[in-house]
Amino acid sequence: MRVLVTGGAGFIGSHFCRVLRRAHPDARIVVLDALTYAGNLRNLEDFEGDGNFAFHPGKIQDRTVVEGLIRCESITHIVDFAAESHNDRSIQNSAEFIETNVLGVYTLLEATRRFRIEKYVHVSTDEVYGSIEAGDFTEESPLEPNTPYSASKAGGDLLVRAYWKAFAVPAVITRGGNTYGPYQYPEKLIPFFATRLLNGKKVPIYGDGTQVREWIHAEDHANGVLEVLEKGQAGEVYNIGDENERQNRQIVEILLEETGRTWDLVKSIPDPRRNAHDRRYSMSAAKLRNLGWRPEKTFEEEIRRTVRWYAERRDWWEPIVRSEDYQSFVRAYYGPSLGEDL
Ligand code: TYD
Repeated sequence: MRVLVTGGAGFIGSHFCRVLRRAHPDARIVVLDALTYAGNLRNLEDFEGDGNFAFHPGKIQDRTVVEGLIRCESITHIVDFAAESHNDRSIQNSAEFIETNVLGVYTLLEATRRFRIEKYVHVSTDEVYGSIEAGDFTEESPLEPNTPYSASKAGGDLLVRAYWKAFAVPAVITRGGNTYGPYQYPEKLIPFFATRLLNGKKVPIYGDGTQVREWIHAEDHANGVLEVLEKGQAGEVYNIGDENERQNRQIVEILLEETGRTWDLVKSIPDPRRNAHDRRYSMSAAKLRNLGWRPEKTFEEEIRRTVRWYAERRDWWEPIVRSEDYQSFVRAYYGPSLGEDL
């Protein structure tokens, strides 16, 4: 197996590379990553000295790069993690979301077709379903995305579906839940709050913090993608979820406990996502479980272990939070509501 992992220097993509290496010691792993603000070669530090691993910088929407790489590396499988993935950034500016998450998927699908790739796994998100008040989304639920980010992911998913229908491209879609664990860029709820709390800074909770998310550990998510790479049926969709539903407030409570801080550091701010903020995500992963996959991590333990990882790995995140890109996003997005608490 010679696998092109796009977005392999990102959070879930890098976990996938490690999971793939453990399961397939002989696989050729080729990472293509644009190294945007969220891509980080240090996420792949475990691959130093691995002769069957290669890294290439580049965007998935760049056809010359994608097709050149597939040809030079005799790629047989593609797993696509490359995406702009932060809702709040998409509220601020959506252009890159459409370019990567829609145009990029189109480029990969065309390459899959032209080079007769054996399987293309498109890694997507439960957010394409929109919000659900009660019950669970299944793979048959309609796509009702509410932010430019989730709409761009839904656009990619629909292209994958169409390429399967029109050209029988052997493509499969996974839709994962909110993912947590080490190496997550500190803009998402858990690492954003953990790193700020470790520094004794205030954290902004949107509205009353009663929104519900379903959480899955990055390694369980990556194992689910591997299961689909190995056993998923072309043309199918598989949800990857772990049924750990928590209100944001409950997550914050754990983060406060684990960092030794109290609620006076939590500031409720007017919801910057306005009506686009999904109230609740919840989905059934029964279809993937039927293939044999099971999540192995215990949420209560692993979220605490994740906070401890951030406490120990300041060398990993301090350069990020000091970077100009990070500072300017946080200033522009949270400055108006956090003011001098920023
Ligand atoms: P996030 O990690 O951005 O993931 P998603 O929007 O994809 O679910 O946010 C998780 C939840 O936390 C979501 O309901 C928004 C909320 N949130 C805050 O209340 N404050 C914050 O600063 C952030 C980043 C998120």
